[in-house]
Amino acid sequence: MSDLLHAAIIMDGNGRWARERGLPRIAGHHEGASAVRRVIEAAPDFGIGTLTLYAFSEDNWTRPEREVSALMKLLGRYLVQETKRCMETGVRLQAIGRRDRLPAPLVSLLEESERKTAAGTRLHLRLALDYSSRSAILDAARRLSASATEESFSKLLGPDVDLLIRTSGEQRLSDFLLWECAYAELVFTPRMWPSFTREDLAACVEEFYRRERRFGGIRPVEDVLRSA
Ligand code: IPE
Ligand code: IPE
Ligand code: MG
Repeated sequence: MSDLLHAAIIMDGNGRWARERGLPRIAGHHEGASAVRRVIEAAPDFGIGTLTLYAFSEDNWTRPEREVSALMKLLGRYLVQETKRCMETGVRLQAIGRRDRLPAPLVSLLEESERKTAAGTRLHLRLALDYSSRSAILDAARRLSASATEESFSKLLGPDVDLLIRTSGEQRLSDFLLWECAYAELVFTPRMWPSFTREDLAACVEEFYRRERRFGGIRPVEDVLRSA
């Protein structure tokens, strides 16, 4: 098994970042795109092999039409601008979540990006769009039914998360990677997503390495003491 980390980030706080500056919410989303670039560039340097970013949830469709369509446009523009850079830097991009409700031009751009970056091996970047973990679990359950095992479920859903980061001070999962986070280390930071830097990511990874993961077992040192 590779010891590269699977880090997942709930990129929250774009709206509040903008409000604090007297700007419209969409300005926060624009600045959020810069934070995405920073984090993608930094992730491989910190031993992250897979990075899953929560960009748009199923429940985000309930936002005003204006914000939703601005977000979709921004995502499209991001893909147009960044695909080449992903190819050059070995980033393999993959979208997770539903595609049938996304604007058709955005789906085409996603597919094009996925095709063009398929050979990337430096970072596996998973972009969660129109994503709901409950829907993903339900979908997998329907596909597997009686033959379901923990392994077959994980294969359909995705790799276990090692480190889950949420920005903006909120401490909840908001329907993100519920199955995959079974033993994830959770790190909550007050930083709003548009202000999230390479140094913030480094601090989160450091925090991860300070934690002791036990997976339901006992601390190795206790094991040694017990058998002594
Ligand atoms: C996260 O920032 C981006 C999306 C959910 C698309 P928000 O837009 O949720 O920002 P806040 O939580 O309102 O500050
Ligand atoms: C979760 O953030 C979704 C994304 C970051 C894409 P939200 O801002 O939508 O979540 P809640 O409403 O605070 O739980
Ligand atoms: Mg939010």
